[in-house]
Amino acid sequence: MEAKVISGGARFTTLPRSYVRPESDRPRLSEVSTFEHVPIIDIGCDDRSLVVRQIGDACRFYGFFQVINHGVSTEAVEKVQEVAAEFFRMPVEEKMKLYSEDPTKTMRLSTSFNVRKEKVHNWRDYLRLHCHPLEKYMEEWPANPPMFKEFVSKYCREVRGLGYRLEELISESLGLEKDTIRNILGEQGQHMAVNFYPPCPEPEFTYGLPGHTDPNALTILLQGLHVAGLQVLKDGEWVTIDPHPNAFVINIGDQLQALSNGMYKSVWHRAIEYADKPRMSIASFLCPSDNALISSPVVLLDNGRGPIYRDFTYAEYYKKFRSGNLDQEHCLELFKNQA
Ligand code: OGA
Ligand code: NI
Repeated sequence: MEAKVISGGARFTTLPRSYVRPESDRPRLSEVSTFEHVPIIDIGCDDRSLVVRQIGDACRFYGFFQVINHGVSTEAVEKVQEVAAEFFRMPVEEKMKLYSEDPTKTMRLSTSFNVRKEKVHNWRDYLRLHCHPLEKYMEEWPANPPMFKEFVSKYCREVRGLGYRLEELISESLGLEKDTIRNILGEQGQHMAVNFYPPCPEPEFTYGLPGHTDPNALTILLQGLHVAGLQVLKDGEWVTIDPHPNAFVINIGDQLQALSNGMYKSVWHRAIEYADKPRMSIASFLCPSDNALISSPVVLLDNGRGPIYRDFTYAEYYKKFRSGNLDQEHCLELFKNQA
């Protein structure tokens, strides 16, 4: 039988067996603390060298940070959340028209992570969209809710601007010219995952998303204000990143780890869900162009070790990523040079 979305309206009273993780691989939620020190960086601040320094420290020590004063309008943020929530409230029959388990599709609603391959499912539905160039992809986006295309496209445009700014700051924080990273990444793709985690009867036995790193360059996550659920692996322990008003959570993806010659880390993170309330998050991913050659600039190789990773194209990387399981191992390991 084909799987189907779990955001079907009726609440589940028991967790279906196919979602139950083995004892050794459960979230152990009582052991998770809140990450008090996640950097919150005011990137609208006039002192650019201060911002660059803060970004550099955050990337080096955490791989995760939040940004405020980021230039994405409150209106765009509110509207995208409203229309995304409205999308998931639609009747299951309406949503299933967009359902697909084919990861090569550029627009689809799906569930879990890779239902065809995985052994245990995840308590998540997600709408996945390609967002750049907008003129090319918007046409295939959901026609309902009626305001979907307008609100989501506006949001995508603004988030892309933020992504470029962050890449410039990150580039400078590595001692590079501000354009260097953007030049290496080429004409970047932009994807969006609207993640919806319905109320779950047994949050202790399953994940919304299991621990993973993001395979792309940079992720800009809108957590929403009310429901925490993103957890990050920090010094071997899972910690929660509490939502901060008007902030985005930014994380370094595998490509920036490779490009920075391992100085900046693509950190493991996961998402959990709750028994009594749904959670939604909106992730925007900036991805190198397929033929971008991911290679550390020479000035970053002067660490006595030379290049940690061999050069590769993003297309090559993504193919490897997709052939593995989300939570198996760090795909980047497969591209390491011999020590
Ligand atoms: C993702 C992700 C976290 C969240 O979509 O890659 O890590 O909080 N999401 O939903
Ligand atoms: Ni992620």
